[in-house]
Amino acid sequence: MNGKSLNILQDNLDKLREIFPDIFSEGKIDIEKFKAAFTDDINFNNERYVLNWAGKADAFKTLQTPTIATLKPIPEESIDFDITQNVFIEGENLEVLKVLQKSYYGKVKCIIIDPPYNTGNDSFVYPDNFKETKAEYEKRVGDKNEDGLLMKDGQFRKNSKDSGHFHSNWLSMMYPRLFLAKNLLKDDGVIFVHIDDNEVHNLRLLMNEVFGEENFISQIIWQRAYAPVNMNRHFSPNHDYIICYSKNIASYNLVKLPRTDKQNNDYQNPDNDPRGKWKAGNPSVGPAVEKNIYPITMPSGRVVTPPKGRSWLYSEKRYLELVADNRIYYGKDGNSIWAPKLFLSEVSSGVTPLTLWTYQEVGHSQDATKELKKLFDDNSYFDYPKPVKLIKRLVHLGTKKNVDLVLDFFAGSATTAQAVLELNKEDNGNRKFILVQLPELCDENSDAFKEGYRTIADISKERIRRVIHKLENEQKENKDKRASELSFDNEPGHTNDFGFKVFKAAPSNFKIWRGDEISEDNILTQLEAFSDPLKGESKTENILFELLLKAGYSLTENIIKKQGYYVVKDSELIMALEKINQSTVENIISEHPKKVIVLDQLFAGNDQLKTNTVLQMRDAGIDFKTI
Ligand SMILES: C[S@@+](CC[C@H](N)C(=O)[O-])C[C@H]1O[C@@H](n2cnc3c(N)ncnc32)[C@H](O)[C@@H]1O
Repeated sequence: MNGKSLNILQDNLDKLREIFPDIFSEGKIDIEKFKAAFTDDINFNNERYVLNWAGKADAFKTLQTPTIATLKPIPEESIDFDITQNVFIEGENLEVLKVLQKSYYGKVKCIIIDPPYNTGNDSFVYPDNFKETKAEYEKRVGDKNEDGLLMKDGQFRKNSKDSGHFHSNWLSMMYPRLFLAKNLLKDDGVIFVHIDDNEVHNLRLLMNEVFGEENFISQIIWQRAYAPVNMNRHFSPNHDYIICYSKNIASYNLVKLPRTDKQNNDYQNPDNDPRGKWKAGNPSVGPAVEKNIYPITMPSGRVVTPPKGRSWLYSEKRYLELVADNRIYYGKDGNSIWAPKLFLSEVSSGVTPLTLWTYQEVGHSQDATKELKKLFDDNSYFDYPKPVKLIKRLVHLGTKKNVDLVLDFFAGSATTAQAVLELNKEDNGNRKFILVQLPELCDENSDAFKEGYRTIADISKERIRRVIHKLENEQKENKDKRASELSFDNEPGHTNDFGFKVFKAAPSNFKIWRGDEISEDNILTQLEAFSDPLKGESKTENILFELLLKAGYSLTENIIKKQGYYVVKDSELIMALEKINQSTVENIISEHPKKVIVLDQLFAGNDQLKTNTVLQMRDAGIDFKTI
């Protein structure tokens, strides 16, 4: 009894669903299925095997709409901004993925994401609507409060199970993001997506659609807990999944897991074989192959044949060759059944990963919470992080240690950054990361908020800083220790990249890319204003990075500031954004760049200089653009 009058329609629907659950989809009657159940008019339109949901077409359209966003550098929140190759981007990931398309197309080796699982309690951005004005843009990347921070009641909101579009909303959120993510992957790249029972069935179909069923690699089961929750009515789930797809299965080579000490300890050398340690293999295989069934005489004189239903591992000819090469063992007394000697030096240096990952190997959820609390002086600021060990294993499997770029665009507490930094330190690697995290407001009652962390992104950035300080301290301690022991680094010359550069998503600095500012009422004044394409308050560094991205350069390009201009990527590109005069033009030309971009407004009132510059650049064979 809730005191409300009975909702007759809902009551009828509930009764109908009890008898005919199959004619419902997301809580509503599916008319085609209804007709099929009660008439012989069975006519499913477009009958084929396909994943469909309410809003799929709109979700697809969002892909094609260009973004009006850019990325603003925030050096004061970064470590080693000018030299690091690691990037943290604060922003809404669909927007950010679009901004990154040109510069990072086909450059990412490994994507690891842990999106909202759609439990009925989590929040995310849906639906995505890009036909928007500036005000709408700000609303979608989150209603802003007076400090310009995200509020929870914008399009970033809870997707509850009562929603008539519960699964559709989640699919509409994931579809464009996965699609854009795939563009960023290298041909031999790989993506890992964390998920649980709520959406695993839909995610597999969605990934089949975006990546192609043939690129499916594995559905890993991670044991995230070990004790049952006895309050649960039915089962107490203690595992999640990690779905893995390659961009192109023909190009993808899985890195193997390192052999553990335990695995290596199985190898001994009881007969002092000069080829080193070996272990005994199984001499027989099944099912039986007739030609490999023959009697073998042990040195003791005992004659053996393969067990019933099996045959020997080798043909008789091969067996005799191996005997001659001392590759067969008969036990200390020469009477044990023969065994092939499998030498450690000849087995593959890695182990093929299994699909079931236990908490003993990669940690469980409580481990993850504990390790995050430890970093934050025993404070709990973020719910349900993933264990660093688990993400390290994914990074190991998905990358080669020297060059590869890892992307996580649902960064949460930034576990992926910690995993990359730690793994690099352990194996002298040079992997880089890009993390993207929404400035989702922390709950006002949370400990994080009370300690001054306004957003989840603030927690992520602070985690990265703390991890870097921890690793630097450990490295210093190790060096001091090694110096006192008069020994040297394992790999001389290797330096760890213990930095990260922070960017924030923001509207473009240029009016020309902001069509939203033109309306029928203001078109004349706007066109006049567009003679200066820049928005008044734009900082030079912000313009620099926006132009870099638009010109297809990465956020970590080598940039040198000179008198009046910036030299990018060993003089491939030069940008003049502050002033221009004849001597700047000459200096720029003397750097022999391939491309030069100059802000058009710098030539204001000096048409002659502009004309001369165009001619001089043309004579020098430089691709010259003004903007
Ligand atoms: C499940 S958590 C990831 C946890 C992470 N693996 C860890 O170990 O801490 C998902 C994160 O994605 C963020 N998120 C959700 N929607 C987003 C969006 N549209 N853009 C960027 N981040 C988003 C949420 O704020 C949340 O922190």
